[in-house]
Amino acid sequence: MRQGVTPRRRLDGDISLPGDKSISHRAAILNSLAYGTAVISNYGPGEDCLSTLRCLASLGIEITQTAADQLTLVGSDRDLKEPANVLDAGNSGTTMRLLAGVVAGQQFHSILTGDPSLRSRPMGRIIEPLQRMGATIHGRRRDTLPPLSILGGTLQGLDYALPVPSAQLKSCLLLAGLSATEKSVIREPTQSRDHTERMLIIMGASLTILGNTMTVSPSRLKAQDVVVPGDISSGAFWIVAGVVHPDSRLLIRNVGINQTRRGVIDVLRQMGANLHIKNERVEGGEEVGDIYVTSSDLEGIEISGPVIPRVIDELPILAVAACFAKGKTLIRDAAELRIKETDRIRAMALELNRMGGDLQETADGLVINGPKTLHGARCSSHGDHRVAMSLAIAGLMATGETVIDGAECTAVSYPKFWEHLESLGG
Ligand code: S3P
Repeated sequence: MRQGVTPRRRLDGDISLPGDKSISHRAAILNSLAYGTAVISNYGPGEDCLSTLRCLASLGIEITQTAADQLTLVGSDRDLKEPANVLDAGNSGTTMRLLAGVVAGQQFHSILTGDPSLRSRPMGRIIEPLQRMGATIHGRRRDTLPPLSILGGTLQGLDYALPVPSAQLKSCLLLAGLSATEKSVIREPTQSRDHTERMLIIMGASLTILGNTMTVSPSRLKAQDVVVPGDISSGAFWIVAGVVHPDSRLLIRNVGINQTRRGVIDVLRQMGANLHIKNERVEGGEEVGDIYVTSSDLEGIEISGPVIPRVIDELPILAVAACFAKGKTLIRDAAELRIKETDRIRAMALELNRMGGDLQETADGLVINGPKTLHGARCSSHGDHRVAMSLAIAGLMATGETVIDGAECTAVSYPKFWEHLESLGG
């Protein structure tokens, strides 16, 4: 799909976000391992979250859609069924990595695959520690790439220091640890998103957390209803649109603002954004608020170190914000961006430079000089939902028309993105 975007004189509106993708995956996967029945509301509507549901159904889980954005799931008490066919995780790294940790502890054989993008993403990081736990797990290219073949069985505990701060890897091992014969200790270099830990504790798992070290013991989980907060990673596009546009006022409702996810708020405030959090509350163990943004004069800053895992999915849209900020923005320590749905460092530099930006790639980030007046151009999404949406916001701010090829990939996390963009007045 080819999508055109033209500038708006004014941005004014009120947006409710789709359910958080990370929390939705976990609500479905953890409840499928629990005993009892759970109702999950505001479940993420994107393709990635649907991939998780399809895989769980193939593993014998009964899932019923009980309202437009609500589903009921009957837990298996860790007794899944051998899938009759290959499990397809689509574009979703979270589905593949978390489910690998689950099926490694089940007494049957599974094969996990995905689309061409997912089949090029590194899986050695989960294969190696799962093998150490005793799972028979193999992948293409000497156990580094999907498809993964997993012959599950009885797992041993593990004491493991993660080589990278990755919530997907951490969660994979926590889930495998639930069905091991003894405790597992998982150490993270820097804290990444902690939704799995929060939900495991609420569901009664034996999990202790000391700093960045987690100790999990074999546990039964009790099903838990979840009301999924709005996805801050989807909200980030409107937050940035609201702060960089010269005449804007946007209210983004019901945003998940968990400390381990809200780096984009901290970074934009440091850049000078007029950003207010209203109506702060806690729902189902996750902090939620409404975010109000207005036109702001941004300044370039350095984005590096421990904040990186807290903004990892928002760096493409922060690269757009940096094009409108005064001075230099330096993004460092973000080499993980090269192995997301596409190489996001490359894609953002290439496409924003096409629009008149001044971005240079480095091995682990970007150097961005601003402010620049962007002009419309013909761009590519590189098949990556976050690249497509970031370019759409750049296009909203550019002179003339921007055309984005491969724009349909926004459905991976935000099927109503183009509709919401259209609704923003002006
Ligand atoms: C996610 C973790 C992050 C993030 C991804 C979702 C999760 O990946 O980029 O979009 O839900 O656990 P890594 O854990 O690979 O950094």
